Amino acid sequence: ARVTLRQLLDDAAEHGYGIPAFNVSTMEQVIAVMEAARACDAPAIVQASRRARRYAGDIMLARMIDAAVETYPDIPLCVHQDHGNDEETCASALQAGFTSVMMDGSLREDGRTPADYAYNVAVTRRVVDLAHRAGASVEGELGLVGSLEGLENEAEDGHGAEDALSPEQVLTDPDEAVRFVRETKVDALAIAVGTSHGAYKFSRKPDGAILAMQVIKEINRRMPAMHLVMHASSSVPRELQDLINRHGGEMPQTWGVPVEEIQLGIRYGVRKVNIDTDCRMAMTGEIRRVLAQSPGELDPRRYLGPARAAMARLCRDRYEAFGAAGRA
Ligand code: G3H
Ligand code: 13P
Ligand code: ZN
Repeated sequence: ARVTLRQLLDDAAEHGYGIPAFNVSTMEQVIAVMEAARACDAPAIVQASRRARRYAGDIMLARMIDAAVETYPDIPLCVHQDHGNDEETCASALQAGFTSVMMDGSLREDGRTPADYAYNVAVTRRVVDLAHRAGASVEGELGLVGSLEGLENEAEDGHGAEDALSPEQVLTDPDEAVRFVRETKVDALAIAVGTSHGAYKFSRKPDGAILAMQVIKEINRRMPAMHLVMHASSSVPRELQDLINRHGGEMPQTWGVPVEEIQLGIRYGVRKVNIDTDCRMAMTGEIRRVLAQSPGELDPRRYLGPARAAMARLCRDRYEAFGAAGRA
């Protein structure tokens, strides 16, 4: 059944677990998330970025979600707009049947320029009014998570995004977070702890100097009831890097956010954990393997099927690790 983000996160807070939110652009990805949720008896959050909506088309995407609700009636499903950049994006998502929207006012409408606090509060509050009237939830963001557009312009290996700005400019300020929540009435708050989107987050295994988990602890101390969201939380598993590279891929060595760090975040109020890159890697690794091993293969089902199964395994691992298994 279709549920709001607020409904899912309230239950997650009550029982102390986190829910992975997986990005989807294709039918295979929607099915992978739902199969994993069913296998684990876990609630599901599928989220679509603006690019995902453009790729699939709003009507196609909305009907795939309708189909997921009908095919998996026992799985609570939240359909979420990832990184909405303005009111119009959030309004059209609600129109398309999304039950939750992210208004990312940490950046200006172009999705790359850091915004000031006043702009962020004003635009987020307008979206909260709009969404709450429609019975939907809102996620806001305070602090800077390495931007996608920025990353696309990085050097090939992407490393260095984390060095560009000072920690004070990037990390969420706990005092400001309290004010932001009071002034916007968001249902969930995305915070910045030093990670960035995509595969190339860190050039070594992140430790306390790189990943600012104390920010989460401090925000949780001041607002124990607030649902926190960790973005850019792919773990970028070594096995998937190796699988891709063994079959013709070229990924320079890289580190993501370790699952143990996410588990620590969940102890301090993180309830939604955004994962896209790991899913992309699981699918790409499997497609590369099948095509390398069967160069004569022409049937997309013979590589998209295994890719879908690989993504479902990844999703199951995250449901288990975050404590969402058995919570549907
Ligand atoms: O937040 C970002 C997601 O990884 C979506 O990426 O804009 O390429 O669909 P995308
Ligand atoms: P990753 O690139 O780490 O998967 O992050 C996804 C994300 O934060 C989507 O909003
Ligand atoms: Zn994100």
